[in-house]
Amino acid sequence: MSESLATVSYIGATILFILSLGGLSHPATSLRGNLYGIIGMTIAVLATIFGPRVTMAGIPWIIVSMVVGGSIGLYAARVVKMTQMPELVALMHSLVGLAACLVGFANYIDPVAAVNLSSAEKAIHEIEIYLGILIGAITFSGSIIAFGKLSGKIGGKPLLLPARHWMNLAGLLIIIYFGREFLHAESVSAGMTPLIVMTVIALLFGIHMVMAIGGADMPVVVSMLNSYSGWAAAATGFMLNNDLLIVTGALVGSSGAILSYIMCRAMARNFISVIAGGFGTGGGTPAAASGDVQPAGEVVAVSAAETAELLREAKNVIIVPGYGMAVAQAQHTVNEITQYLREQGINVRFGIHPVAGRMPGHMNVLLAEARVPYDIVLEMDELNQDFPNTDVAIVIGANDIVNPAAQDDPTSPIAGMPVLEVWKAKTSIVMKRSMASGYAGVDNPLFYKENNRMLFGDAKKMLEEVFVALKS
Ligand code: TAP
Repeated sequence: MSESLATVSYIGATILFILSLGGLSHPATSLRGNLYGIIGMTIAVLATIFGPRVTMAGIPWIIVSMVVGGSIGLYAARVVKMTQMPELVALMHSLVGLAACLVGFANYIDPVAAVNLSSAEKAIHEIEIYLGILIGAITFSGSIIAFGKLSGKIGGKPLLLPARHWMNLAGLLIIIYFGREFLHAESVSAGMTPLIVMTVIALLFGIHMVMAIGGADMPVVVSMLNSYSGWAAAATGFMLNNDLLIVTGALVGSSGAILSYIMCRAMARNFISVIAGGFGTGGGTPAAASGDVQPAGEVVAVSAAETAELLREAKNVIIVPGYGMAVAQAQHTVNEITQYLREQGINVRFGIHPVAGRMPGHMNVLLAEARVPYDIVLEMDELNQDFPNTDVAIVIGANDIVNPAAQDDPTSPIAGMPVLEVWKAKTSIVMKRSMASGYAGVDNPLFYKENNRMLFGDAKKMLEEVFVALKS
């Protein structure tokens, strides 16, 4: 393939990636968006393999690597549960970071990479390598820790070392100092020492940064690492002189940064304070693993039949799904009940919190899969003011996102996080298995409110019982 054909293919792939991101912004167009992404990536891979920079001798190596990597990816995608998706994503980000590090070292050692470069070009080339490895190493170790926290292998509590900000500052100064040493190195072997020292510090920095972040802020961290992995890919593109990789990395980097910003706003967090770590501990109970908070009051339990009765008498119903709906895989039953209630003339809508579940858009994906109509699935801001005019608000396996302590208790670890105000409905019904806390590990005063009822049990099982009772 000629250079110009490869360039045209790259431009085509870039356009498809942009269309893909546009398509993925709404459930109705997301399938098309995915398709654009697949076609774009296929073009990009083919144009790279058959492009002018890969020799015939290299092609078998690439094919073997693709078969091995593709098989692992296919297997992982097939066995992973929807609720484990964020962990898988974190693990994949770590691979992008690792790739950036390896490409950086390979590029530095490569005897032909810097041949025929002027001294200014050589300096730029080395800065690209240094920054690429720096971002890659932080992304790699940070993502591994994020994987550990999300999968429960590492506790959710933030690790707050004394003088941690000073340690970070010292690390940054050492990285700058060794960057200077690296640029002034006379030979590749002399440059290796500062490069390796910087890599070790960057790896430690990545670990420290994510270890210091509390469980409740993990969603922001995952999307921030997504952004970092994009910038690591862009840095790899600079090192390899590959325009498509630069553009694609920048698209991922900037969209991840925008998503992090949106999530910070949704959780009333300041982006810098999330990155600085330790949020969720100031003055309050530290965010903890779920299930270790003692109930602080009396609750009123209801049966499935009583829930059905309340729904039958309602005119306006809002359903708030959360992580538990995903665990129970209750979305199809939720859709059946919704259809039935709508046929009876009851106005049913869904309220989606931006961080409900365990990944951005988690609830939207599940509801779309169950074919709940998009026009009754609303964002938190779109319907929060409607709860006072709502007869029944049903909370299905959600906890933190409907916790009034976020508004009422300034010492709560989730203070300031916007929440769905279900307690303002005439009656709220919380469906969950026990009194256990949610992801942030905090008690929920909603459960003890006078107008709240608890329907204990697995969400799918209880909803099936409610459906049977509704129809009888
Ligand atoms: P959570 O606060 O985690 O609450 C989920 C509740 O579901 C639990 O209290 C659990 O109570 C219940 N549950 C679990 N399995 C169930 C089942 N089979 N049937 C019925 N109930 C079940 O979830 P949320 O309200 O969706 O809030 C999300 C939280 O996760 C936030 O703190 C958010 O910051 C965090 N987070 C979000 C993301 C993203 S990007 N969305 C990523 C990581 C973390 P029982 O055990 O008593 O049943």
